Amino acid sequence: MKKSRLLLTIFSLVLFLAGCGNRQLSTLHPAGEVADRQFFLLMFSLGIMFTVIFVVVIIYSIVLYRFRRKKVGEDKIPKQVEGSHKLEIIWTSIPIFLVLCLAVPTVYYTFKLGDVRGMELVDEQGNPEALVVKVTANQYWWHFEYPGLGIETSQDLVVPTGEKVYFELAASDVKHSFWVPSAGGKLDTNTDNVNRFYLEFDPEKADEAGNLFFGKCAELCGPSHAYMDFKVKAIPKEEFEEWVAAMQNYKEPELTDELAIRGQELFQENNCFACHAITPEAGGSKLAPNLADFGNRTTVAGYLPNDVEHLKKWIKKPDDYKPGNKMYKESALSDDELEALAAYLMSLKAGQ
Ligand code: CUA
Repeated sequence: MKKSRLLLTIFSLVLFLAGCGNRQLSTLHPAGEVADRQFFLLMFSLGIMFTVIFVVVIIYSIVLYRFRRKKVGEDKIPKQVEGSHKLEIIWTSIPIFLVLCLAVPTVYYTFKLGDVRGMELVDEQGNPEALVVKVTANQYWWHFEYPGLGIETSQDLVVPTGEKVYFELAASDVKHSFWVPSAGGKLDTNTDNVNRFYLEFDPEKADEAGNLFFGKCAELCGPSHAYMDFKVKAIPKEEFEEWVAAMQNYKEPELTDELAIRGQELFQENNCFACHAITPEAGGSKLAPNLADFGNRTTVAGYLPNDVEHLKKWIKKPDDYKPGNKMYKESALSDDELEALAAYLMSLKAGQ
């Protein structure tokens, strides 16, 4: 009985801990400079803390064993050390030293990793040298704007690897928090100020992760907080530039498929465009996710697989998948109409 319980515990621990190994989602697999430094701080402080625990437990056990009443006798009075300067200096200086060991690198990296002076730098033509992405968090989706490039997108954040990417973080409704566990963070998105930081995505680590990292909202923000996911496509610089060019030259698709044409009509008739922009130019609607390039998105609603089936389910009853979202509770569209709308949305792709 005892043995099987132990085995069960070990087995479930293995299953549980296996979740920590996902390269796309784990702070334990740092995939860039910021995550590296944060991982170092994590391990360094854990090391110090475990050493303290280890030493204390050892001394405690020795004392417990050596000074048992049974061994030293009922009447034994131990050596009195009250007021010993030597001992007091030892147990004051060791903790001070340890706290300093924890504090110095923590403070150093807090300032170093928060250094965003690079986002102000411009080249001779006055163009910004670094890539800046403006992130707006909304219940329960993410808007990404590239002010220097004149484009915007939602849910899938596209960034180049091997360079610092600066972020300006804000929220439109309540407080959220922007977190890409593998790359570092997290930082709150607030409604009343803009927070800034940078992340770096290591080309090799990104490659190992299939050039895709998972992003999370890390601040309880409502009933669908847990579904407020986004994806980070971290791709080599050349590919990133191709993507930017495709987005800058984005054209609405010329539809030939009848189903998709019907879907486009439904999109107009149902006023979907009142909230959803369908082209990536800066200045589009920010009321709901931008749908340009939707056909190339990794997910529907941030966490469902991006296929027609899930898209239809989502459009039909969004509230089943993201309770409290601002679309509507249930759509009156028929199954055929949903099929057409999904076909249209899937046809929205950059680089055609
Ligand atoms: Cu947004 Cu939690």
